[in-house]
Amino acid sequence: MNKLNPNKIAVIGAGGVGATTAYALMVQGIGSEIVLIDVNKEKAEGEAMDLRHGASFVNPVDIYAGDYKDLDDAKLIIITAGAAQKPGETRLDLIKKNTGIFKNIISSITKYNQDGILLVVTNPVDILTYLTYKLSGFPVNRVLGSGTVLDSSRFRSLLSKNCGVAASNVHGYIIGEHGDSEVPVWSLTNIAGTQIKNYCPICDKVCKEEELEQISSKVKNAGYEIIRKKGATFYAISLAVARIARAILRDENAVLTVSSLMEGYYGIEDMSLSLPTLINSNGIAKVLELPISKKEKADFRASAKHLKDNIKGLEI
Ligand code: 2OP
Repeated sequence: MNKLNPNKIAVIGAGGVGATTAYALMVQGIGSEIVLIDVNKEKAEGEAMDLRHGASFVNPVDIYAGDYKDLDDAKLIIITAGAAQKPGETRLDLIKKNTGIFKNIISSITKYNQDGILLVVTNPVDILTYLTYKLSGFPVNRVLGSGTVLDSSRFRSLLSKNCGVAASNVHGYIIGEHGDSEVPVWSLTNIAGTQIKNYCPICDKVCKEEELEQISSKVKNAGYEIIRKKGATFYAISLAVARIARAILRDENAVLTVSSLMEGYYGIEDMSLSLPTLINSNGIAKVLELPISKKEKADFRASAKHLKDNIKGLEI
């Protein structure tokens, strides 16, 4: 095995999410070498060329299309390949198709690289993160999924708009499945360090409690709405992935709601799903079991059960 290059990222899948992720990484100067790998090599080559031609506008970065052997020294391997959700489909409808695809992808990766960090983005992301953990044999800290990092960002951005406060000053987490059973953690949601219910009286806007509740349902349904309107989602998810990549490559100890193997958190084991997690150059540094409400804990457990029910009968 080669020694890892701490600034090298491999992106598997050069579709909308993979190519846009490479673009987000490039524009933000995350990683100095990015290899794009796709079954359709020509597509990967076209995307890499298109990105490379912007080289004079960004920090130095080597972007190219490659094969699995080129990821042998990658610190971070981002998996975006697989069938994408179509209008009317749920993320869980993709389980069968993408499980098969992942079996091939993971064995191709581990043939060349056993020391890097695997970041799963393909849906259903929690189940595929769990499958990747099982198939790769990598330690728990080096297998994570983009999980609800995107949903937490959607939540913060909708609250920001609603409350008229910059998204960077609005904090809140969506936990559980990246999908229909996800859970908004209202008990920890805060603006300017103040719990949301205590911030509302300070805010000049008068809004009803239902309006806030509608925000979490808008977050949950955002993916469906965008897919119905434009056929796919790729900008915000790619920014979420770039955010996770930055936390890893820059050893940040950032708190992000990534998906990872549950080891007894709120009583859940043997499934991957999202909780606020410290991310650094080791991947998962610590999953934070924060003091959330009783109902939120129960909803989180129900989300885990929902995922487990969906993989019954599947060979994992
Ligand atoms: C999203 O939520 C479809 O999972 C994708 O944008």
